[in-house]
Amino acid sequence: MDPEKLDVDIINDGLKTVIVGNNIIVFNNTSSTNDIAWQYSTNPKNNGLAIFAEHQDAGRGRRGNKWISRPGQSILLSVLLVGHKCHPQLLTLGSAVAIAETIKNCCGLEARIKWPNDIIISEKKAAGILLESRVNNGQTNFVIGIGINCGHDKTFFEDSDFQMPGTSIYIESRKEINRNILARTLLTKLDEWIGIGQSNGDKIIEKWRQLSSQLGHRITLEYNHQRFTGNCIGVDPAEGLILQLENGGVRIFEAAHTSILRHL
Ligand code: BTN
Repeated sequence: MDPEKLDVDIINDGLKTVIVGNNIIVFNNTSSTNDIAWQYSTNPKNNGLAIFAEHQDAGRGRRGNKWISRPGQSILLSVLLVGHKCHPQLLTLGSAVAIAETIKNCCGLEARIKWPNDIIISEKKAAGILLESRVNNGQTNFVIGIGINCGHDKTFFEDSDFQMPGTSIYIESRKEINRNILARTLLTKLDEWIGIGQSNGDKIIEKWRQLSSQLGHRITLEYNHQRFTGNCIGVDPAEGLILQLENGGVRIFEAAHTSILRHL
């Protein structure tokens, strides 16, 4: 059965947000929704613009990876923030919280956050975030790119090369989900948490702690080509993941140069 198409009017129906989704565009096919969002970034009136697509030919993931999906089986979203003042790490953490809450509210699934930008269900990756920033006329603009695996079945994850095992909402719930309602809920949650990030970063950290799959766990990571193992004791929004190292000492690892190899 073909999934119901994403529809601007349905997504907009009853949407009550301050910034995110104040304008919504749905593409059938694009290169990358992040690329489209950047094309709108010179006009401050486009603050909060949400670009959705049914399919991307050149979807980007973090660290130069590709983000692949089958047509109509995902949420592929980019939100443009023009001249935004929140710390970039808080934007990623707040977006991760928004995605986890959306999946819980719409599908009843316990989604967890794997720092810095993965959303996992049953230890497998269900969604990811790619935050990009550019400076224009002295102000920083952001595009938050979000991919959520909705209707993909197991063959999709067997056929493709992924950095970590993947899953979808359909695989985890065995239910067809309404992507328009998921999209509306996601815009609402992003608006809420991005707003909170501007005034109360601690609230995002507190929620991240509740949803983290790593806090209190033993983690091995690679930082600048070196391996480190330790117990995750927290996250600092500006600096990164905090580990109590096995060989002594506490160290903070910034997201840009860190890959999580294992967590137990
Ligand atoms: C990651 O986990 O590596 C981040 C994946 C982000 C994918 C989304 S899909 C919508 C937006 N457009 C892109 O090209 N990438 C992001």
